[in-house]
Amino acid sequence: MGGSADEVLTVSEERARARVGIKWTRYGTDVIPSFVADMDFDPPQPVLDAIRGHVDRGDLGYGPFSAELAPVYADWQERQHGWRPDEARVRPFTSALHALEVALWNTTDLADGVVVFTPIYYPFLDAIAKSGRRRVECPLDPHGWRIDPERLDAAIDSTTKVILFCNPHNPTGRVFDAAEIAAVADVAERHDLLVITDEIWGELLHPGVVHRPLAISDERFAGRLVTLGSASKTFNLAGLRTAVAHIDHAPLLAALDSMASHQQGSPSSLGITGTISAWTECDDWMHAVQRTITARRDQLTRRLAADAPTIGYHVPQATYLAWLDFGAVAVGRDGGNHGALGDDPAEYLREHAGVALSNGPKFGTGGVGVARLNFATSEQILDDTIDRIVHAINQLEAST
Ligand SMILES: Cc1ncc(COP(=O)(O)O)c(C=O)c1O
Repeated sequence: MGGSADEVLTVSEERARARVGIKWTRYGTDVIPSFVADMDFDPPQPVLDAIRGHVDRGDLGYGPFSAELAPVYADWQERQHGWRPDEARVRPFTSALHALEVALWNTTDLADGVVVFTPIYYPFLDAIAKSGRRRVECPLDPHGWRIDPERLDAAIDSTTKVILFCNPHNPTGRVFDAAEIAAVADVAERHDLLVITDEIWGELLHPGVVHRPLAISDERFAGRLVTLGSASKTFNLAGLRTAVAHIDHAPLLAALDSMASHQQGSPSSLGITGTISAWTECDDWMHAVQRTITARRDQLTRRLAADAPTIGYHVPQATYLAWLDFGAVAVGRDGGNHGALGDDPAEYLREHAGVALSNGPKFGTGGVGVARLNFATSEQILDDTIDRIVHAINQLEAST
């Protein structure tokens, strides 16, 4: 690693613990948090300066306005991924999930089917359940988290209306390939489905991996695609509550445009300023983050192979998330199918290892016996996290 941007990507535990966000406050000081998808790095300096500028000027009145996001998002997508969104179809939201839920609500009726590729970032499942829609699971193949086209086709019936897509995929870190995306496009066209694609992890890629927005992947998505975008993951800005959706779906655009103007809320001036700064002047910082999370991913891969080979793990192509399968750890001790850590290893590890991972079962099919680890932290904190997990497992395995 080298270069000045890399140097700011170190964080002491003391600095992390001084934060008031949920990551470092939810559990006690004896627990290392590795759950929510925030990075333990300071956001880019230009973003901090832009926000501080508002504060220093006492500049907290109306504006800048969310309409300013559309051209910046279009430039950003074009520069990063070769896709030029149509600015007239970009709408602001206060988060990616806000956009997802509004899209779902306005394009489906109660009990309509919504396809998800499980395991999946669990708020997708909550969004379906809370809106009274019906979850249609298409489990990914656990031997590599590929989409199975036949399984996808078989999952769909006449009440299925939407596919919720997530690429890069949380929690597995997969970036779906052209054949998988063609299978999704084929099904979407044949069954006349809307596809809502959440691409907010699109820049957190490991070397050799390319993210291609669905919008330019297959012409069969034309007229049936909503793309969610945000600076929140790439630039560690989730608290700014700012996102956009590119809506290539005439009925949804019409529905949004007929809503009373404040019904949907709006990102704050600080969120808009911070997001514009991220998308226009922080590429160096982003490259440093990419190098750093790849170094941590490789650290995790080495450590698991050396010290915890019974944990199942597919090296992620993107994201800073690792989907760890504890099903083979000390199998048989409890007589169950999912090893001695049980169905929900995150619960066990919180209590017995002092680390807080995300609970696998919440992510739907494929989540039992699994936990999600966030490795966007310092080398030291990641080593401490792994040490604690390894210690807990060794103790269990010694007692079987
Ligand atoms: C795939 C995905 N979508 C949405 C979100 C949440 O984004 P927001 O806070 O903008 O709703 C996350 C957060 O981790 C995520 O991983």
